[in-house]
Amino acid sequence: MVGDVEVERIVRELTLEEKASLVIGSDFWHTAAVERLDVPRVMVADGPHGLRKQPDDPDHTGAFAAVPATCFPTAAALASSWDPDLARRVGEALGRETRAEDVAVLLGPGVNIKRSPLCGRNFEYFSEDPLLAGVLASAMVQGVQSQGVGTSLKHYAANNQETDRVRVSADVDERTLREIYLPAFERVVTEAAPWTVMCSYNRLNGLHVSQHPGLLTDVLRGEWGFEGVVVSDWGAVHDRVAALEAGLDLEMPPQLGWSDRAVVDAVRAGTLDEKVLDRSVRRMLELVRRSPAPYDGPPVDHDAHHALAREVARDCAVLLKNDGGLLPLDLASGAVLGVVGEPARTPRFQGAGSSQVTTTRVDVPLDELGALAPEGVEVAFAPGFDPEGPVDDDLAAEAEALARRADVVVVFLGLPASYESEGFDRTHLHLPSAQVEVLDRVARANPRVAVVLANGSAVLPSPWQPQVPAILECWLSGQAAGGAVADLLLGSACPSGRLAETIPVRLEDTPSYLNFPGEEGHVRYGEGVFVGYRGHDALGQPVAFPFGHGLTYTTFEYHGLEVDVTGDHADGTLAVSATCRVTNTGERAGQEVVQLYVQDVDATVARPPRELRGFTKLDLGPGQSGTATFALSARDLSYWSERVHGWVLEAGEFEVAVGASSRDLRLSRTVYVDAPRVAPPLGPMSSLQEWLDDPEAAAMLRQALGVDPDGRLPGMLGDPQAVDVVGNFPLRGLAGFPNVPLDHATVDAMLGRLSGTGSSTSPG
Ligand code: BGC
Repeated sequence: MVGDVEVERIVRELTLEEKASLVIGSDFWHTAAVERLDVPRVMVADGPHGLRKQPDDPDHTGAFAAVPATCFPTAAALASSWDPDLARRVGEALGRETRAEDVAVLLGPGVNIKRSPLCGRNFEYFSEDPLLAGVLASAMVQGVQSQGVGTSLKHYAANNQETDRVRVSADVDERTLREIYLPAFERVVTEAAPWTVMCSYNRLNGLHVSQHPGLLTDVLRGEWGFEGVVVSDWGAVHDRVAALEAGLDLEMPPQLGWSDRAVVDAVRAGTLDEKVLDRSVRRMLELVRRSPAPYDGPPVDHDAHHALAREVARDCAVLLKNDGGLLPLDLASGAVLGVVGEPARTPRFQGAGSSQVTTTRVDVPLDELGALAPEGVEVAFAPGFDPEGPVDDDLAAEAEALARRADVVVVFLGLPASYESEGFDRTHLHLPSAQVEVLDRVARANPRVAVVLANGSAVLPSPWQPQVPAILECWLSGQAAGGAVADLLLGSACPSGRLAETIPVRLEDTPSYLNFPGEEGHVRYGEGVFVGYRGHDALGQPVAFPFGHGLTYTTFEYHGLEVDVTGDHADGTLAVSATCRVTNTGERAGQEVVQLYVQDVDATVARPPRELRGFTKLDLGPGQSGTATFALSARDLSYWSERVHGWVLEAGEFEVAVGASSRDLRLSRTVYVDAPRVAPPLGPMSSLQEWLDDPEAAAMLRQALGVDPDGRLPGMLGDPQAVDVVGNFPLRGLAGFPNVPLDHATVDAMLGRLSGTGSSTSPG
């Protein structure tokens, strides 16, 4: 197949049945072929952090082995790198493995927002912040697609929990959707043009996303210009015809004999316009056309990919705490390094479900520490606990004894696989109690304890945090995580990750707490735009570790923040630029993630006290300085107004702050930004105050009713105290009030003039 002409010829020659087959796939992982017309089938496979190509026995639970592939850090980890270049390199490697296995589309990445740390699938998602999620996913998609294969951006949209995921209605107001849940999708679609977008299982405000024309067509294609294929999540289609009409091109896996029949019957019965089917068929043919020919290039260099996985895992780990500079470990010959915790020997580095990769190999932290520890250091191990079981006294006593004789102890803790997975949500944020108890006994025996965590989403560091001087959060960081941990603990590399999600003090503090996971088929996004740090900050709550936080083995100073506002919002040229200098004031090289947050100081609507609007990672040697530069647009200062159905920038002061986390802002500047007043057109229900605030309408009122020598309107309308009381009444509703010299005819005439029709407006 070559060229548009060919696609058009095939569309003309396909029978109705063949067209229906093309929009439903042929089996669990393949689209349908039409051999008669030389249309081959293409293969898709999970994603997102490694290729999961299943040669036989298709499933999506991960139970059946797939071909070996590199398991890179999961999105939860990758996001903590705050490094789009790294995400792009991971994407390139994923693309190479996908291409070499003759898979056309890698099913990922997932950019759903971490609305609650309880979501069982958070390990597959990037962040609680849409900018961070969007920037990293966009880079990753560009990396994968640079290898000539496609991606599937998922799960579009508002799929933020696993509980009842196929049926639940996410009840979300439009402002929240636009500001929090859609922007990461929007960025990836507009910047990286993924070949496909995968619709989510859930309903949005009552309507299944697979049948949602607003999401699948109006926003995705109409507003963002998406031209690829919309594929269903596996099993998300309940009405094939309605889904087709809404803009869903490919149903996966196919409900053979049911979906194709429904499409054919609907066209024959005249209830589905064949043009709608043709539109999706064309998109499918385009997908097949751009899919690569069978691979005949060199084999994948799995060693190089493993080395990349290790490098990336190093940059993803977040050093949460490092009192007294316990890390990196300072071990002289003759020292004993105690290693406690079964995960040091049996690491957990990826999550369960459809993303589970059959690895090419796995680094075991204990082995890696043994290999990298300086000559003459004894690396001694005690498992301490069984990851899933209750406290085992013998194991705990053995760990305690090791702690007593060790110079320093590293305790490996984390969530067992049964705690978090695709398919269900967690019910609490605690580590298993057996782990906490062993840690307590170890820390009492030896206070020089560093905790290494492996988990897919936040765990509470209470009650144990005060007992340990150092905590390194590694997330689920892929098959080379063990080597990366050894590099970081022993100091051949410096931690540079920052939190992509807040670690709360209590589950009850998380903004979605009262509305998660919903009931009776609905989950109300009651916290609105106040998700993650936006909510914690608005409520002024203490957090265990804030969004953006992460230590290194060095220190940084910020200076010289400059913020410039140029252009004019009225003609679309408004731009805000910011620069600041950062100096590495320590003795080691390190990377600082400079974060820029904005607050609309004069907002008339409820807005978060700070929102991430830019970030950049600087690599600085000791004593070295670098410049962070940021470019902001009007959109970065705006909120989504439901009333005007668009982004609104309100004139006024904005605080622009830079710092090392959302709670560690080092420098700030307040700038004034001018913008034309935006208000919905006045109508019959517009209030007195809205009339007075609108310069044209206020002038009209003054002209119609006259003013006294002080310029005040007559009667109540000119009395400031009265306006305080009745300013929120519709103007026309005041016509019957004493001392209001106004009648309906005058209001209608003014409305007619304002709308430019000259005619009156009927009451609404
Ligand atoms: C998951 C998707 C995945 C698909 C195919 C679904 O259950 O939600 O993320 O790509 O299965 O395995």
